[in-house]
Amino acid sequence: MPSVTAAEVRASAPAHVRNARLIDWVARIAALAQPRAIHWCDGSQEEYDRLCQQLVDAGTFRKLERRPNSYLACSDPSDVARVEDRTFICSQNRDDAGPTNNWMDPGEMRALLQTGENALFRGAMRGRTLYVIPFSMGPLGSPISHVGVELSDSPYVAVNMRLMTRMGRAVLDLLGTDGDFVPCVHSVGAPLSDGQEDSRWPCNADVKYIVHYPETQEIWSYGSGYGGNALLGKKCFALRIASTMGREQGWLAEHMLILGVTTPEGRKYHVAAAFPSACGKTNFAMLIPPPALSGWQVTTIGDDIAWIKPGADGRLYAINPEAGYFGVAPGTNTATNPNCMRSIERDVIFTNVALTDDGDVWWEGMGPAPAHLIDWQGRDWTPELGASTGVKAAHPNARFTVAATNNPALDPAWDDPAGVPIDAFVFGGRRSTTVPLVTEARTWMEGIYMAATMGSETTAAAVGQQGVVRRDPFAMLPFCGYNMSDYFRHWLDMEHRLQALGATLPRIFCVNWFRKGSDGKFVWPGYGDNARVLKWMIERIEGRAQGEGHFFGISPRHQDLDWRGLDFDAARFEAIIDADPAAWRAELALHDALFQTLEKRLPPELRAVRQSIAAGLGH
Ligand code: GTP
Ligand code: SPV
Ligand code: MN
Repeated sequence: MPSVTAAEVRASAPAHVRNARLIDWVARIAALAQPRAIHWCDGSQEEYDRLCQQLVDAGTFRKLERRPNSYLACSDPSDVARVEDRTFICSQNRDDAGPTNNWMDPGEMRALLQTGENALFRGAMRGRTLYVIPFSMGPLGSPISHVGVELSDSPYVAVNMRLMTRMGRAVLDLLGTDGDFVPCVHSVGAPLSDGQEDSRWPCNADVKYIVHYPETQEIWSYGSGYGGNALLGKKCFALRIASTMGREQGWLAEHMLILGVTTPEGRKYHVAAAFPSACGKTNFAMLIPPPALSGWQVTTIGDDIAWIKPGADGRLYAINPEAGYFGVAPGTNTATNPNCMRSIERDVIFTNVALTDDGDVWWEGMGPAPAHLIDWQGRDWTPELGASTGVKAAHPNARFTVAATNNPALDPAWDDPAGVPIDAFVFGGRRSTTVPLVTEARTWMEGIYMAATMGSETTAAAVGQQGVVRRDPFAMLPFCGYNMSDYFRHWLDMEHRLQALGATLPRIFCVNWFRKGSDGKFVWPGYGDNARVLKWMIERIEGRAQGEGHFFGISPRHQDLDWRGLDFDAARFEAIIDADPAAWRAELALHDALFQTLEKRLPPELRAVRQSIAAGLGH
């Protein structure tokens, strides 16, 4: 099958593409991957509609009769989530990737992907179109933003990137003749030979590589078309590469939602909160306080990633580098997250949810199941079948992609190039035992310790065993582009840098919405009722709320939270706020194991905090 020549690539570039480095690079990648055609994305609605129609014609998309301008894609069963064991940080020095990242020598990896005789990218795009996808992470032209260009052979990626980022012509204009960009190369790893029929979800079931070269700031992804493996602006760029940029340049790239919270008196605060994948960021960012707390209002700046820079005033200013949400569908419903349900009424790409007979979508936890569905794998499904076999209609990591502008709770400053000043950091894991509902750190150092040692039960957002507790420092275990111990050091150093500017540092809190009772059910109602905890945090910042100190920090007593509109007695509260000494001795052993792993460059201050917690426990 003929592939485009370098001369054809150059000729294919629209006149407004003036960046020689970009054109050269596209030509080089085209020569390597040998696509059949090149498409320079302009980011227009017309282009989006055309690509979606093309995906419908190819059988990848199904247009939903019941939701305007919305589509359903169902992936190959081998390609449903991030692949952490296939994700690599290829720094020159192994220790710079650190013990929590997979590492390979950059030269070896390049041979495998690009330069070797049987390099994976050689001819990887044969029979496909290469899409040139220029995107900005963050508001166009903001001093906090960065530009990337993804070259992908997946039109599904191209349309998702249009919803998730600021994508298209304006970015090329911004790049001008010599603007800088992070090069991101993506192939589904399924070249087509002459006459070969394409599959509905092309991917490579056997070989996947998600590769980052932090020193040269490059991303290469092979074999998957799904989510964070393929939409390279998200985890690969905005977290793994950006975290290394932030370390060098004195800022932070974090797996955090950003929300605005306004008190009944009209005072506005901003909170950035880190929770591991599928542990509640989107829901917290869109929270609607219960009616009894109706004077309180929450608005969304971001739902997954925050880029945070110190300002001249010593405060930390955060932007959401993304422009859309790639959110978990299962568990989302009008009772627990009405803002989200309204966000996805139209203009949505759903992936791996179930299809109703009348052309709408359904997932577990949306509400009563219809009598018949087509499940995410295209098979007939009924509630009876689900109940008797445990087969889910939607994949547990099924997702929706939607532009942020669809969110009725979108904060007016969500797109502000200056960012919003952060008043509090929140770190939360999914823990059915041990960790209290909320604890405030008494010092920055104690907060860093809480974040660094955070544990969480694994979820369907990554391929692998689910429900096992693992340490997930700062919810960044799969996303830190460098040595985790150096990352702790970077956060610890921030205290001194901000204090030198005369600033009051943000408060740090640790939360857990997920404690379970002996019946195996969540004790805490969560969702909108998390506003009660948020209110306590804000009132702590304002010096208005009480709490009780213990060996780990400060937690509210029953009388310290606002219970209007909720019947939640002191005994039940005790079951989710207590820090059991025996459980915490076991927990400290898990902290020790993490520190053991990270020993080589671990900041000694963290061990000192561990000793004082142990002393408080009488241990
Ligand atoms: P990623 O997009 O993977 O980073 O996930 P996320 O952190 O944004 O998680 P999300 O808000 O999508 O929630 C994941 C799952 O947890 C969904 O099924 C939610 O319904 C559920 N969840 C979120 N918040 C709460 C809560 O407060 N309590 C309980 N019990 N479940 C929650
Ligand atoms: C996560 O896993 O934290 C996500 C989904 O936000 S993905 O984009 O696939 O990484
Ligand atoms: Mn996430």
